[in-house]
Amino acid sequence: MIDMAMVSDVERLELALGARSYDIVIGSGVIEQAGEAIRAVAPTRRCFVVSDETVAPLYLPRLAESLEGAGLRHDALVVPAGESSKSFARLGTLLDDMLALGPERGTAIVALGGGVVGDLAGFAASVLLRGVPFVQIPTTLLSQVDSSVGGKTGINTKQGKNLVGAFHQPKLVLADVDSLDSLPRRQLLAGYAELVKHALLGDRGFFDWLVGNGAAALNGDKPALIHAVRKSCEMKAAIVSEDEREAGRRALLNLGHTFGHALETEAGYGETLLHGEAVAIGICMAFDLSAELGLCATADAARVAGHLSEVGLPTRPPALAAGPWDPARLMATIGHDKKVRDGRPTYVLVRGIGHAFTTQDVAPEAVETLLAKAVAA
Ligand code: GLY
Repeated sequence: MIDMAMVSDVERLELALGARSYDIVIGSGVIEQAGEAIRAVAPTRRCFVVSDETVAPLYLPRLAESLEGAGLRHDALVVPAGESSKSFARLGTLLDDMLALGPERGTAIVALGGGVVGDLAGFAASVLLRGVPFVQIPTTLLSQVDSSVGGKTGINTKQGKNLVGAFHQPKLVLADVDSLDSLPRRQLLAGYAELVKHALLGDRGFFDWLVGNGAAALNGDKPALIHAVRKSCEMKAAIVSEDEREAGRRALLNLGHTFGHALETEAGYGETLLHGEAVAIGICMAFDLSAELGLCATADAARVAGHLSEVGLPTRPPALAAGPWDPARLMATIGHDKKVRDGRPTYVLVRGIGHAFTTQDVAPEAVETLLAKAVAA
């Protein structure tokens, strides 16, 4: 257990994976105390910090000071901000740069940034010298509640997102909610969609809490934010410790993603539709489909859409500059999703708020009707 007694307003939980279990620390002022926490899990007194050009100027100086204070030597490697850094080319450059610095197997890689930095640095950690220790310091809400927890790492290829990667669990996750102060509102909301997803898939009580307190958390109420991130990480940690490699239950984390990914692919992975926004719309579609199939009360679907819309998230696909959405193309993209098994898409549906399940047993016609209705609205 990491000793962060010096830090105020800090919560911690453990992701239980036997000998590979690790702490997730969530709070205010966590980056300032990161050095001691990292030293407790790092095998040697040296680490590499990977960050990006947006985050490094904001938080690298305080992390560097904390590392130095804890007697940890570090080298910083700063990559361009944005999804384009999740590429073979950037991974190659990063690994070359690290190798030029003479790493040892005990040299930990610390990811300071959002999901792109975490996924890239984590993948580098999984292959550098056949695997070195890895620490996540997520600085966006999306990465704090989702991508930093659970060990999925990877890059994009021309065939799609995250198609090349590795499961490589971190030794520690340090989520400092203070870093969310600098996050644009739109990005904050996009992360909130993944947080709501965790409530919707398995914890109705947490969703009720979010309906009452989510807006305050988004408006900077730190105790509310810490509680929300903690509850969200708790849900993800419980699922990952049961099903690390997504052989079963972990697939529930894809609630809203089958539809969301299809929308993102069509929208071109840019500013038109952020990942979390696509997930918010996808969640509404999953609830609508569940209601349509008689699995879930229409009132639950309406309540979910109502909350997402109230905080400022989209619940319907936005207009595309390139022209109208094409339901047939969306359907084809769903058919190519990497979660397809034996040619059949896997859907995460619900029997109500907090009761998600996976199924391949959905008639294509029902999905086609749903897509046509969603893009026509
Ligand atoms: N973001 C889904 C997962 O980690 O499994």
